[in-house]
Amino acid sequence: MLSQRLKTILAMVPDDIETVWDLCCDHGHLGNHLAQRQKVRRVNLVDCVPSIIQRLELANEKCHKFAIRAQEVQIEWKNSECVILAGVGAHLVIDILNNILRTFLYTSSFFVFCPHQNIEKLRKFLIQQKFQLRQEKLIHDAGKFYQVFSGTFSQQKSNLSELGASGLWQQGEISKLYWQKQWNHFTRQQNQPMLESLKAIKENYGPY
Ligand SMILES: C[S@@+](CC[C@H](N)C(=O)[O-])C[C@H]1O[C@@H](n2cnc3c(N)ncnc32)[C@H](O)[C@@H]1O
Repeated sequence: MLSQRLKTILAMVPDDIETVWDLCCDHGHLGNHLAQRQKVRRVNLVDCVPSIIQRLELANEKCHKFAIRAQEVQIEWKNSECVILAGVGAHLVIDILNNILRTFLYTSSFFVFCPHQNIEKLRKFLIQQKFQLRQEKLIHDAGKFYQVFSGTFSQQKSNLSELGASGLWQQGEISKLYWQKQWNHFTRQQNQPMLESLKAIKENYGPY
């Protein structure tokens, strides 16, 4: 049974995707699940821990597994790749993207992110890289909050905002709880710029 977090990530993968890169895959549920879609032709499951890859069971013959660092993958960009980076910190996501975007061709290839720490740093990086947001969602799963967002990179100004938009902040009670959690976090850090941004969010999307 997939968690709400995994279901949300899977729901953001477009229907026309043919090649999936499930980077930092661990249990492999994301890649294995997508391999069951008819249009998907190949799924690459990557994790840097050899024992994880050794015991990973593959859903079908479309799946291939690799015990390598995700920073080392070489993606041949065509039109239909989907890269999923979930369950790891923003610094690692940035490190991995710094490598794979070096060869990126501005195709309609797609990305889904669900980082678990320092999300505002990843958002800043994505804005610099001209990320085009398609969808973003805040979820509360097993007592934890997660931001899930998807889109692609283009040569135009990014439409991503540093602290997220309605997909995060207009989700009723969950948004209210998340806003308070972020407020407490940045108050402890005495991070005045983030507190100012949170005040603006409250004005735009509240009441909280
Ligand atoms: C918490 S799991 C996330 C699993 C899955 N993506 C999810 O969201 O549920 C993190 C996984 O990332 C792997 N990992 C950490 N650093 C990595 C790297 N540089 N390259 C590939 N895998 C890495 C770990 O071995 C671990 O299995």
